[in-house]
Amino acid sequence: MDPTATTGIPAPTFFTHVDRALASRRARSLARTLTDPTYTIDRDFASNDYLGLAHSPALASAIHAATVAASSADGTAPQPHGATGSRLLSGHTPRASALEARLARLHGAEAALLFNSGYAANLAVLATLPQPGDLIVLDEFVHASVWDGVRLGVGRKPNRAPRHITVPHADVSAVRDVIVAERERELADGVARPCSIFIAVEAVYSMDGTVAPLRELVGMIEELGDVNVHLIVDEAHSSGAMGLNGAGLVCELGLEEKIPFRLHTFGKGIGCHGAVFLCSAAVRDFLINYARPLVYSTMMPTSALIAIECAYTFLEEHADQLQRDLQLRIATFSSACSRYPSLDLVPSTTHIQGIRVAGGNAAVVRIARDLREQGWYTLPIRAPTVPRGAERIQAIMLYAQHPATKQHLFNDVLAEVMLKFVSIEKMTLTLLVATQSLLDVHEILGRDVLNGRSELKSTRLRLGLAAKNYCVNGDQKDVLVPMRSLIGMLKALDFMDPDENGNKSRDRWLASQFFDLHPWLCGQLYYMLLQLATDTIFSPESPHRLLM
Ligand SMILES: Cc1ncc(COP(=O)(O)O)c(C=O)c1O
Repeated sequence: MDPTATTGIPAPTFFTHVDRALASRRARSLARTLTDPTYTIDRDFASNDYLGLAHSPALASAIHAATVAASSADGTAPQPHGATGSRLLSGHTPRASALEARLARLHGAEAALLFNSGYAANLAVLATLPQPGDLIVLDEFVHASVWDGVRLGVGRKPNRAPRHITVPHADVSAVRDVIVAERERELADGVARPCSIFIAVEAVYSMDGTVAPLRELVGMIEELGDVNVHLIVDEAHSSGAMGLNGAGLVCELGLEEKIPFRLHTFGKGIGCHGAVFLCSAAVRDFLINYARPLVYSTMMPTSALIAIECAYTFLEEHADQLQRDLQLRIATFSSACSRYPSLDLVPSTTHIQGIRVAGGNAAVVRIARDLREQGWYTLPIRAPTVPRGAERIQAIMLYAQHPATKQHLFNDVLAEVMLKFVSIEKMTLTLLVATQSLLDVHEILGRDVLNGRSELKSTRLRLGLAAKNYCVNGDQKDVLVPMRSLIGMLKALDFMDPDENGNKSRDRWLASQFFDLHPWLCGQLYYMLLQLATDTIFSPESPHRLLM
């Protein structure tokens, strides 16, 4: 039936909704798009290939050789290249069980269960293990897949769902408080059987690179003496990158026996695809029986199992060196950044690093895009993935293993990236000429520009307004026009000394800073201007406010 027939007003169709939703995302700089990779491997600062295994030619040949060997295994029927069914139906192979036994040994666990991805594993674990009445305690920064697992569990038993509560990031005492309060409530209510409490954390957090306080959590649970409290540690970002033979953080800390529930994913540091959940044999059986993402999904194919086997064999030989190289890169990055105090680094000691950028989602999207257009693979991390005001460019220390990233080459790469930020620093310095007090100008240039005082003030005002306009309209012209007038003003002030040939070299340098810079700096300009505008216009303490 025609929806306009009764009312005369065209009803919004599904497609209208789609268009509106997408337009709204674009307007908020939240649109997701699929982009073909344009970066070269040595310029990757954003993927999860922490040890370079996904790009390793040596590992690729090992996988190829093992695949050929498997398909021509003597006397046996050729392996199908597809798994042909769920693991519970035709998808199971002895190869999968052998891999699980090997992974259980490696990680010091009683048993292991493969999943098609970390996402599927978290869905399965969080939706299946907690029972009605149980309590799930979530670190506020846990991955979306954990949240979705909780939702799936709640959705399946809406009336008798497990409960969940969020605690501040890495706050052990907050977790303790929740446990104590729950037990006190049970006591007061005369509950016959205390509920199970599951605490979900990540070993290394994907956005901030922080390391979970695992020792403290284990110590706190032991101190409470509560055997019905279970830690679930998602090691997605520590698999491969930490621990002996890449076994992860829990193994590195020697906590295998204290933390039996662990998730390792193969799509990041292991360079493959899939995941494994470590647990007791009984819990493994329980998941095989009840975990819907396992039961109702086709098993990963033999080729994926072979790739994972080869990656772990590769790590047995190379993990130590690769991890040391990774640590070196983290140290190099930190020390390179420390030379530029204006860089707002996310405090992290791991391979996941970030540079915070003022100016919100629009700024961070623009900067990352411009960097990518130049071949630097960086990603914007936007709000609400991170809290508003903490938007950032993610910088992941990669390619410990790729030949093109020997330490000195990595330094070169880093230097090149840093140079761009240094350019920003220089620009900040130059902007200071126009925006800080005359004392600053004096110090920075060592010149007396008092004559230009009134022009400096009006330029500062124009810059501030331009930044605000830019913020609202996102038009780079808003920024560039006052920048040009700033240059003009500086030229008019004629504060540059000619060099021995009579050229005003610093003048040229300045001009090149503004006009010849690569376009991506416009985004940076925007945020600096925004900061300056905010400082000068809105901050009541700012001495510059008086000068406006
Ligand atoms: C902490 C964490 N857990 C789980 C996953 C999901 O793993 P997979 O990519 O294998 O689905 C991710 C992926 O980004 C993650 O960051």
